[in-house]
This record gives sequence, structure tokens and C-alpha cells, in this order.
Amino acid sequence: ARTIDRNDDGVVTIGGLEVTRLAEEFGTPAYFLDEADFRARCRAWSDAFGQNADVFYAGKAFLSRAIVRWLQEEGLNLDVCSGGELTTALDAGMPAERIAFHGNNKTPEEIERAIRAGVGRIVLDSFQEIVRVAHIAQSLGKRQPVLIRVTVGVEAHTHEFIATAHEDQKFGIALAGGLAAEAVRRALKLDGLELLGIHSHIGSQIFDMAGFEVSARRVVQLLAEIRDEHGVELPEIDLGGGLGIAYTSDDDPREPQEIAKALGEIVTRECESSSLRSPRISVEPGRAIVGPTAFTLYEVGTIKPLEGLRTYVSVDGGMSDNIRTALYDAEYTVALVSRTSTAEPMLVRVVGKHCESGDIVVKDAFLPADLAPGDLIAVPATGAYCRSMASNYNHALRPPVVAVRDGEARVIVRRETEEDLLRLDVG
Ligand code: LLP
Repeated sequence: ARTIDRNDDGVVTIGGLEVTRLAEEFGTPAYFLDEADFRARCRAWSDAFGQNADVFYAGKAFLSRAIVRWLQEEGLNLDVCSGGELTTALDAGMPAERIAFHGNNKTPEEIERAIRAGVGRIVLDSFQEIVRVAHIAQSLGKRQPVLIRVTVGVEAHTHEFIATAHEDQKFGIALAGGLAAEAVRRALKLDGLELLGIHSHIGSQIFDMAGFEVSARRVVQLLAEIRDEHGVELPEIDLGGGLGIAYTSDDDPREPQEIAKALGEIVTRECESSSLRSPRISVEPGRAIVGPTAFTLYEVGTIKPLEGLRTYVSVDGGMSDNIRTALYDAEYTVALVSRTSTAEPMLVRVVGKHCESGDIVVKDAFLPADLAPGDLIAVPATGAYCRSMASNYNHALRPPVVAVRDGEARVIVRRETEEDLLRLDVG
């Protein structure tokens, strides 16, 4: 966990800036993102994976033009999964060949746009998509580099909504029953496709390395089967993202170095035993790069003590800026950051201002008993899947993302305004 810096008055500082001043300048709720930390994490991943591997940042975790520029400067590639993410990436100058395009239901229009732009990889997710992408590429007179996404059949130990390697779900083509092998057979026959390799993503917020290892082994075994059947050694495998981060002190994340080493060894061993050349490996971390780099700053509003139960602390945001608690039972911590307090800790539930009782930001936490309206509290580790999954529920205005670096703060995604809401409402 990162240490919290406070000035002499007990006000938390980030990059030398006091949160009280940040709140005055940018308002609350707001996400504050540490740019140096983001860049350092990008470098840690690319250093760990080295020359024979590629790191694709998963844009779904959080994407903006500034992020795309930082990724380019730090030498990372980008995984996008919608036309909107593709547009942001291209608009911010990401070279198309460094983009991989994912999704289980890419529209023909999105596919055409991606192929015309020259994206480096399209990850094929179904039998229908194999044909669809091949036809569109051919009609454009192109041969599109592709990977086939397979489901390797492991149960990743994470919330069922974010586990993706078991067979009963919408992503990928099962290895089981020879389906993936059949997909490869079809893809190899189509002129519009250049099949480069196999992709497997087992899920998200995972700590146990075993799932990644099984996935790597099964993907390499498929490469060996493909070599035996077709006489071609596909040059690439992509092992997806999913590395967990620490939201609470119970979580025990792995370092990129450790992941790289474990995956590298398994792939090498498995290739040796089948006399395969080692493929180029790619990975797609999202949360592990951006998650820990940001926190959400809220102002405390109504405080409601419920005798014998807990105290409900309402903040000026809620499920519209962090849906993860409501959706996945995610756990977060919270801290009083605008001052220190020597008051006794009290059991609190931090809730938002939305019209439903499931609008919970932090389910169980302790805050000082003298907490008062106007205090600022911060929820750490909200860099991933918070702004990117933010909504306008109850016509909430989605908060800004403010990048902090070297004692300077600048808005990279501005706060939504009521005019923004009204502009879309053309009735
Ligand atoms: N690659 C693929 C193909 C993916 O589907 C995902 C995440 C990633 C990479 C990045 O996974 P990460 O390293 O960020 O775990 N909204 C959920 C997470 C959904 C993840 C979806 N796919 C959450 O808030 O926990």
C-alpha cells in the first residue's frame, strides 16, 4: 500500500498538492490520477516482458487521449474493444498497427473502420466473426492479421461476472470438443485473414497464478496441434489481462516480473516438449496499470447514525462514479483526508446520493467519530473501471479525471455539465 503524505495541518497531499486545494479548484467528486505512477507501471510491465513480448494496455479500464499519449511515450500497445475506444486511440495518435481490437459483437461498420485504419490485430471471437472479418478484409483488398480467442476451460477464482475462461459464457471459442481447432481450420482457408496466433483471457482481478499457467499451457498445446495438422507454427500467443490489485490489505497482488517469469517458463517448457519455436507472447493488463494510480475524492454530506448498526456517511457521488461495489460486491477502503482526527473510529458505510439503497461506495469501513459534513474523504484504487463505467444515473454529472504530476494538476477528462445532459436530450 502507498504511504499517505500529510502536511503540517494533517491535510493529505498528492504530488505535493493538498487535497483541500484540489477540491477547491476541481470540485468533488473527482478522480485524481498520479501520472508518474501510471508511467512507472507501464515501464514495469514492458521491462518485465522484455524484447520478446508485447504489452497491450486494456483501454476498457480507463481510456482518454492523455492516457493514449502516455502509453505511446512508454512504448506500450493498446487493446480496444469498441468503435469509441478505437476512435479515441486513433485520435490521440496511437499508430494503428499497435492497436488490437477485441469484442464478441463488433459491428460490420467497426470491423471495416478497424481494417481500413490498419489495426495490428483483430481478435476473432466466434465462427461467424471469422467469416465476417475475412469478407470485409477481402472486399477492401486487404489481408487482416488476426488472433482467435479461445476459452481454455479453467475456473478463474474471481467474481462470476468477470471470469471468462469457463465454457458457459459469451466470449471466445472452446478448446473443448475440437471447436477451436475447427476455427483455426476455417481461418487458415480464408484469404482475407492472416492468422497470427491464439488468444486467451481467463478473467479479471485474479491473484492465483495457476489459472494463467493452465491457460498458457493449453494455448501452446493448441499451437502444437495446429503445427501437426497444418504444418504451420503460429508465431504469437496473447494471454490476456486479469492480474489483481490490492483494494484492501487482504489482497496480495503479484508483480509483473513474477507473471512474466512464470508465463515465460511455462511457454518455453511446453514448446520444448513439443519441439515448437517459442511464440511471441503478449499480455493485456488494464487494472494492474491504472487501478492503483487514482483515488476518488468526495465531500461528506449527510451523516446518519443508526443506533446499534452503523453510521451512514453520504457523499456527493456514488454508484454513478463507482458501480463496482454494487455490481461485484467489490471492497474498498476510505480515509479522512482533509484533516487528522484523534476521535474514536466508528463503523461506517459510505453511500452515494442516488435513489436506491444498493448505492454503496464502501460497504464496511471505519472513520473517526467526529466526522462532519464538509470533510473530504478519499477512496483509493479507483483508477480502473470507475470512470470508464461511470453513468448518468439520476442525471448525475460524471466526475472529471485530474492528472497530478510534479506538483501540478491538470484536467484530462473534464467534469460533465448540465448543458452536456441537455445537449443530448433533443426531444
Ligand atoms: N483483455 C481482455 C480480452 C479483457 O476482456 C480484459 C478485461 C482485459 C484484457 C483487462 O483485464 P484487467 O487486466 O483489467 O483485469 N469491469 C470489471 C472488469 C471487467 C474486465 C473485462 N475484461 C471490474 O470492474 O472489475
